[in-house]
Amino acid sequence: MIAKLVLDKKREGHALGTAEIREFVDGFTRGVIPDYQMSALAMAVCCRGMNERETADLTDAMMKSGRCLDWDVATADKHSTGGVGDKLSLVVQPLAAACGVFVPSLTGRGLGITGGTADKLETIPGYDASLSLDDFQNVVKGTGVSMTVQTDEITPADKKLYALRDVTGTVASIPLITASILSKKLAEGAGTLVFDVKCGSGAFMKTREDAHELAVSLVSGAKAAGRKAAALVTDMSAPLGRAVGNANEVAEALSWLGSGRCRGRFTAPDGADSAGGGPVELCIELTALMVSLAKSLPLADARCMCREKLADGSALARFEAMCAAQGGDLDAFARLVEKPTFKFRIQAMKSGYVTAIDAEKVGRVALALGAGRMEKTDVIDPLAGIALAVSVGDRVSVGSPLATLESSRGPDGLERAAAELLKAFSIGHSAPERAGLVIESIGG
Ligand code: URA
Repeated sequence: MIAKLVLDKKREGHALGTAEIREFVDGFTRGVIPDYQMSALAMAVCCRGMNERETADLTDAMMKSGRCLDWDVATADKHSTGGVGDKLSLVVQPLAAACGVFVPSLTGRGLGITGGTADKLETIPGYDASLSLDDFQNVVKGTGVSMTVQTDEITPADKKLYALRDVTGTVASIPLITASILSKKLAEGAGTLVFDVKCGSGAFMKTREDAHELAVSLVSGAKAAGRKAAALVTDMSAPLGRAVGNANEVAEALSWLGSGRCRGRFTAPDGADSAGGGPVELCIELTALMVSLAKSLPLADARCMCREKLADGSALARFEAMCAAQGGDLDAFARLVEKPTFKFRIQAMKSGYVTAIDAEKVGRVALALGAGRMEKTDVIDPLAGIALAVSVGDRVSVGSPLATLESSRGPDGLERAAAELLKAFSIGHSAPERAGLVIESIGG
């Protein structure tokens, strides 16, 4: 294969052959095809696109660039495209395990305004989120669920390509995003994949059309690879739940799992859920999809099972077992979240209803406080973040608390960040219409 001819072909808008894609990815992984040619291909794909078969071929080639795991039990995983306050994996994955599905979940670290599940879990003292693949497999077999970051053995082609896309303006391409996300998920070997494709200001996909397109592409790519798959397009215009940060998000997830630890940090299980369709409901919906596909059960039965396993403490038990197996000490975590931090509270300047809480603005403030990283090498402050005191739809009066900003690094910048955070809240005269978080359901 001559790389230049492949580039010419894609530049002219023609579909590439299976062997051409495989050889290009293989050559790039081995260092035979240089970065500049791979960057040129990424740009050509951005401009010309790829059909479904080419996307599946690209996914397959990237998946096979590294180690692929194999399981002899029913497995499922949920992938979120990332959002502000998105701690759903901390509930969904152990809940699926409690329903009898094994959950091997290779997860990521956060970059930009959306946090990573691994960063959140690593705020639990001792929790090892960098397991070897062998240890990962042992934890999954022993406790039913493991969450750890992907190792270098998994999809090295994606790691190299993503670094190039990041600096060559080639991230925004549905076929490239699909192949990137899917190759990693396929390599971990889960038989069922459920995608939570977020849409809105705090998400990677800002519009419903783009989110729909990505969701369809992920589901068809997973099915083409022989997996069961479904996706929900869900709203990310406001943060999910009340906590945005890292340790505080784990504390909130623990409260959703029914844990008495960290009680007082998040007293209400979930304000939005009382009206239905809030984050806990979304956890149940995503898990039910995993369970119904993996166990071939009617969705309604899977939903009932999820509610039962969340209410009776089984999901919490799985979370605790996973933490223990990965070295995490939840009692030490409960002491950590009680540690004093520098705080700044913001209040409503007028009375009315909270009509919007802009997820992107909240995410940017949390990032500035130290809850996220701008560069891969930035170090996170585990206790930095935001505790929202209200949800969209709540009634407030002048002086009602809206949110508390927290940092353990010092008081500098808190007041400025607070002024920015205030801009995230819209307060109007009438209550907004309540809509659930699920915008669209695909596949299943
Ligand atoms: N997340 C990924 O893993 N890959 C992309 O290309 C975009 C988001």
